[in-house]
Amino acid sequence: MEILLERYKDLVPDRYLVTEERLAKMINVLVHRQYTLRVFMDYVYSHHNLSAIVRSCDAVWVWWLYYRHQKQLRLNDEVTMWAHKWLLIDYVEDIKDFYKSIKDQGYQIVVTTLDQDSKDFREIDYTKPTLIVVGNEVDWVSKESIDFADEKVIIPMYGMSQSLNVSVATAVILYEAQRQRQIAGMYDSPTFPKDLIIKILYKWAFEDIIKNKS
Ligand SMILES: C[S@@+](CC[C@H](N)C(=O)[O-])C[C@H]1O[C@@H](n2cnc3c(N)ncnc32)[C@H](O)[C@@H]1O
Repeated sequence: MEILLERYKDLVPDRYLVTEERLAKMINVLVHRQYTLRVFMDYVYSHHNLSAIVRSCDAVWVWWLYYRHQKQLRLNDEVTMWAHKWLLIDYVEDIKDFYKSIKDQGYQIVVTTLDQDSKDFREIDYTKPTLIVVGNEVDWVSKESIDFADEKVIIPMYGMSQSLNVSVATAVILYEAQRQRQIAGMYDSPTFPKDLIIKILYKWAFEDIIKNKS
């Protein structure tokens, strides 16, 4: 813990109301969060699946998720295990604007779909800034997602069923991305803008504590 706090002393906020151990854990999570690996849940319907996807994202240090569903996102704490407290989950109002802005930021849009020309998900280079798009439990992803796709991917299915549960499929793809990024050393140094880490740490280690006390 001391080593980590010493290594990242320039990230420690001026004021914090948590133990140094807790602060070290928060710093450890943030400096490993993969700022350029994101997930879009395109009309994933069930709150259980949405919650399970949030938990899988936390597990591989994804920070930024997006969703398109009812504006009021209802997550099941027992499924997320509170991981949603430590991630950014944004609602997508206008999907075309969303994809245009993601592309303008230099992200490749990797869409899960059963198309003829879909590639095996392991053929993709996930060390690039990447948005992974997963879809609805019945209808798969939306037409807009197909239209904006830079890459279309499928997880090979060898049995009788043609698809996995969406949260399982998301986790499979995320761990491939994690494997590639680990090999590329992307977990060894922060990919997060420093000022954003300091801002989030101040919120987690000071503002949220004050708020929860009041
Ligand atoms: C469960 S599928 C939809 C299944 C649909 N009800 C059917 O039976 O064809 C829902 C989402 O899970 C993801 N998914 C499921 N299986 C997949 C696979 N083999 N490859 C890629 N994505 C998959 C995709 O994001 C898809 O939009």
